[in-house]
Amino acid sequence: MADGQDIESRAKFREMLEGSKEDWDIIAEHSKHFNRGLAQRVIDHLKLLDGDFGGFPVDRLTHSLQTATRAHRDGRDEEYVVCALLHDIGDTLGSMNHPDVAAAILKPFVSEQNHWMVANHGMFQGYYFFHHLGLDRNMRDQFRDHPYFEYTAQFCHLYDQSAFDPEYQSEQLDFFVPMVERVFSRPKNSMYLRKTEE
Ligand SMILES: [Fe+2]
Ligand SMILES: [Fe+2]
Repeated sequence: MADGQDIESRAKFREMLEGSKEDWDIIAEHSKHFNRGLAQRVIDHLKLLDGDFGGFPVDRLTHSLQTATRAHRDGRDEEYVVCALLHDIGDTLGSMNHPDVAAAILKPFVSEQNHWMVANHGMFQGYYFFHHLGLDRNMRDQFRDHPYFEYTAQFCHLYDQSAFDPEYQSEQLDFFVPMVERVFSRPKNSMYLRKTEE
């Protein structure tokens, strides 16, 4: 894979004002290779949750695998299962707003409904524990009339809040890798997509 280490395969500009079509052809070629590696980078980052218990009965990777496995065994489609797998991937860098991180990573590749579900699952999950922390468990009710309220409430009820069982036999991460690769190979929404690439 050409990765731009070789100076001959790099753009020549010192500032973008000098950039030429040739420069941007080089960069576009490199970005094609780089973008193909996105699924693997996401998987690698998900693995950072391995062994990270944070006081929970299972570590965060186990929770992610269990959420995805429960969704898969319940007949959810591949895009949904990938959302389930990655919904807490932001715990590492977005410790105060983890749903935003997962939602940003998934946004180009999933439906508006699935994106909204991932982006807001934190508040919906709060229904199951906010009251133990002196918070309002009904915080989610501000979205009561939203078209994706029930869809998101269902995700948390069926798959997320229920995925802390140390005895549950989940599929391993390898089982989900081809699904992640397929979902991340089909961008739907991005400002970098030309209409012809859709
Ligand atoms: Fe979460
Ligand atoms: Fe979760």
